Amino acid sequence: MLFNGEHIGDGSPPPVDVAVDPLEGTRLTALGMSSAVAVIALAERGAMFDPGPCMYMEKIAGGPEIADLLDLDRPLVETLELIAERKQVGVRDLMVAMLDRERHHAAIEEVRQAGARVRLILDGDVSAAMLAVTETAAVDLLWGIGGTPEAVISAAAIKCLGGQLLGRLWPRDDDERSAALAAGYDLAKVLDCDDLVAGEDVFFSATGVTDGEVLQGVSYLGKHGASTESLVTRSRSGTVRRIFARHDRAKMRALVGGLYS
Ligand code: FBP
Repeated sequence: MLFNGEHIGDGSPPPVDVAVDPLEGTRLTALGMSSAVAVIALAERGAMFDPGPCMYMEKIAGGPEIADLLDLDRPLVETLELIAERKQVGVRDLMVAMLDRERHHAAIEEVRQAGARVRLILDGDVSAAMLAVTETAAVDLLWGIGGTPEAVISAAAIKCLGGQLLGRLWPRDDDERSAALAAGYDLAKVLDCDDLVAGEDVFFSATGVTDGEVLQGVSYLGKHGASTESLVTRSRSGTVRRIFARHDRAKMRALVGGLYS
């Protein structure tokens, strides 16, 4: 993990911003549950939004077809009706992914009352954002309050994959609110992917840790082997590559020692 503002590398150009979450879904991994990923994003120096003291953001994300319908102020159910109309399906056919948190209980209830499906996730709103922008996936929308670093990483992914994510800082308490205001943050501002990660030179990569809909997780092959699936993409070309790798754990261990399991 890197801390905000940490400098890495030997200073050789080009200077870049790096956002990394080596294990997006720590608890998912510990519990052997699906959709934990290791993610990294790169962009030109200064391109990534610095969330300052704010740990959380309100987020809404969806695919290219519904990008213009996303709105953090319009009641969620109205947005679902617009999405259903755009997709020419019923509201009941829509799937909304939300982190299973108490802060979302009222919204979960509203979505259920409207008849839409709710996919509650224990963790991992980066994977859920990737699913929400994938046209062929079962998830139509990601909604809810999650981590700000995850919002920046999701925005980097979406700039490469297509779609949109809107975010707005969500201070947890008065202290965080005052610190954010004192640091000059506009708490009412809705940030889109270009605000979260500026420019068109964005790189994103994710490797599955546990099996999920976006990526297959690490699978151990016998005593020494392992296989992984990664997705590698960049915004300039929009090319998405999937890399299936077979690893020799004994050889890797000899190369990098205890860092390798
Ligand atoms: P980790 O990478 O630390 O496991 O975080 C997982 C995660 O669920 C993110 O996907 C999400 O944005 C954030 O935590 C939500 O935070 P909280 O668990 O505090 O609600």
